[in-house]
Amino acid sequence: MDETCRSEPIVIDRVSEPDEDLLGLLLAGDPSEFAIRRYLNQGLVFVGKTADALVAASVLLERDDGIELMNISIRPGYHRKGYGRQMINHLIRFANGNGTSKLLVGTGNSSVGPLAFYKSLGFQIVGTIENYFADYDPPIFEDGVRCIDLIQLEYVFEEL
Ligand SMILES: CC(C)(COP(=O)(O)OP(=O)(O)OC[C@H]1O[C@@H](n2cnc3c(N)ncnc32)[C@H](O)[C@@H]1OP(=O)(O)O)[C@@H](O)C(=O)NCCC(=O)NCCS
Repeated sequence: MDETCRSEPIVIDRVSEPDEDLLGLLLAGDPSEFAIRRYLNQGLVFVGKTADALVAASVLLERDDGIELMNISIRPGYHRKGYGRQMINHLIRFANGNGTSKLLVGTGNSSVGPLAFYKSLGFQIVGTIENYFADYDPPIFEDGVRCIDLIQLEYVFEEL
């Protein structure tokens, strides 16, 4: 499908000094401000902008076995318009160009929307860490489902 048919093309750039607006947007993809601040310091931060608005933010972290997508957040009100697809396709091209073999991501068992999103873009489920979120206080619920396990997914690049 044409990735821009329901959304205008976004301009995606790296950001070296994330501001509080960006942190607020990233909280949609990760409820832990502490964790976000930690990986913002170490990671590669990307933002996606339309002509009028900052609509997308992502953070990548380089690991020994690939690049991990720590967060992808599309601004509320802009979901299901193809902006997430544009961001992921950009990050895949970036990671592939960086010589890594795969893009990794983890999400909660209750994150039905993000799981469908990643799978629709070619990610495969490769593992589950049971009880990863079991000690979260307060516990996380999404659409009435308790988030307990971490689902691990990978996007493996074709041979370069
Ligand atoms: C998950 C998220 C990044 C998806 O971004 P998006 O811009 O809404 O997604 P897109 O419009 O690019 O969707 C691409 C495809 O993914 C799938 N998809 C996306 N969201 C979905 C949902 N909620 N339910 C089912 N499928 C979904 C669909 O196949 C969709 O294609 P379609 O709309 O033509 O059917 C966005 O909903 C978001 O920011 N959520 C809050 C933060 C978050 O949970 N981040 C992930 C943390 S692990």
